[in-house]
Amino acid sequence: MIHKNFYITTPIYYPSGKPHMGHAYSSILADVFARFKRNDNYKVHFLTGTDEHGLKIQRAAEKNNLDPLTYCNKISKIFKDLTKKLNLSNDDFIRTTEKRHYKSVNDIWNRLVKSGDIYLSKYKGWYSVSDEAYYNSDEIIEKNKKKFSTFSGSTVEWVEEDSFFFKLSTWEKKLLEFYDKNEKFILPISRRNEVINFVKSGLKDLSVSRTSFTWGIKVPNNNKHVIYVWLDALINYLSALNFPNTNDKLYKNFWPASLHVIGKDILRFHAIYWPAFLLAADVEPPTRIFSHGWILSGEKKMSKSRGNILNPLEIIKTYGIDELRYYLMKEVPHGSDGSISLKNLENCINSDLANNYGNLCQRVFSFIKNNCGNKVSKRKNISDSDKKLMEQTKKLTKDLRNEMDKQNLNNYIKSVINISFLTNKYINDEEPWKLKKNNTEKMNNILHIALEQIVKISILLNPIIPEKSSKVLDALNINTKLRNLAFLDGKNVIDDEIKIKKLDILFKKTT
Ligand code: ME8
Ligand code: MG
Repeated sequence: MIHKNFYITTPIYYPSGKPHMGHAYSSILADVFARFKRNDNYKVHFLTGTDEHGLKIQRAAEKNNLDPLTYCNKISKIFKDLTKKLNLSNDDFIRTTEKRHYKSVNDIWNRLVKSGDIYLSKYKGWYSVSDEAYYNSDEIIEKNKKKFSTFSGSTVEWVEEDSFFFKLSTWEKKLLEFYDKNEKFILPISRRNEVINFVKSGLKDLSVSRTSFTWGIKVPNNNKHVIYVWLDALINYLSALNFPNTNDKLYKNFWPASLHVIGKDILRFHAIYWPAFLLAADVEPPTRIFSHGWILSGEKKMSKSRGNILNPLEIIKTYGIDELRYYLMKEVPHGSDGSISLKNLENCINSDLANNYGNLCQRVFSFIKNNCGNKVSKRKNISDSDKKLMEQTKKLTKDLRNEMDKQNLNNYIKSVINISFLTNKYINDEEPWKLKKNNTEKMNNILHIALEQIVKISILLNPIIPEKSSKVLDALNINTKLRNLAFLDGKNVIDDEIKIKKLDILFKKTT
């Protein structure tokens, strides 16, 4: 029997400041994939959480006059609350200060020691606390007597201290072989090429412990060193499956992870360090890293340290969560950066949600209520225009699974919203209101087709706008067990006769 299991994760966020739109974007994106797979009858495990160790957090806590754990408890809760506000369907929320995580990190460390991949030496070089990353001198520039990473623009400081190293240099060839064998390990392809070129240019051994501060997981049997926060953090994906208990059901069902959704800022960690650590520890690497672009505010990356933050909570309050979800998913091009603005958000709500999908549902429901006593009966025949709409729909749905498997949500949304557009056009062309007196059979037929289309569109939009699409499906009395993608394989979506309930206004126009 083939197990259709799907393990998907978001990055675990630093609770060094409040969550912003960039975090919301990653989380919603992962949620859409998770919901789509569930609707396609996969058993899904969806993980998110917070990354709570390291100097960045220690300093943020100091700034707030709190001890690190008290500080993390406070901010991590804000991130956890956000999962509810974003309507995420995550099955778990992990914090790296939890016991289950310590266990798992200790085990991986011991495996790396045992395999001979760790040795003691001294680190001398640049470090960015903001990125929690080491940079080579050719990755640094100086401006106004301050040094910055050319990669992220964040400030770097000079570090010189005793440190354990991971023999990353010895994994260069094996990583390249791994990328070669797993062509879709990194998507989009442009990011894959970037990673391969970086690895080909040569990998240096990686410092994996620090001695100049204490907020972290201690190196086993060593009180002086804390484990480098990225080695610690990446292991969260295993901790949540109860690793090192490899007999645990969660681990057995869900490792290797199907998909790590991340931003391009943390690609190196996920696409190079993570598989190297895992190969060295004799654990199978994940199947896919999908690296999305940045949400920009104007020209600049939206970030806590830049302070140019659009607050997702305010947007949700004013416009609604489904509206925000739809806009973010549609607006940011596949794998690239996307600039967002209130004006574009409003345009998007009006054109796609209110005037297109919302209008389609509303007009069909009110017509059926006013003219058919809330009931549409079995469809009797198929006209040429019915056939045309069905064929167009079939064509537009043909690649949807495939687009989702490539994380190409833009193509997916484009196709689905186009189906809605074509269905509106079908109703305009067929003019069922002209058939009220003389041809109720044909009128019924048109409405039946329109409802079939609405069911399909609503199921397809469900991962993106779960609340509103469910309202429509509820009003159509579609059993929750039948709200899946079986129609993509030719199954019928509705009973022959269909009764509808009242449907409240779905989307308010913003102007
Ligand atoms: O890097 N646009 O945490 P972090 C799009 N703890 N996405 C954005 C974004 C923006 N402007 N800003 C942030 C860390 N993100 C580590 C991760 S994982 C084992 C450890 C999203 O709080 C994006 O997914 O800095 C990015 O990769 C992540 O938040 C970084 O969050
Ligand atoms: Mg960051």
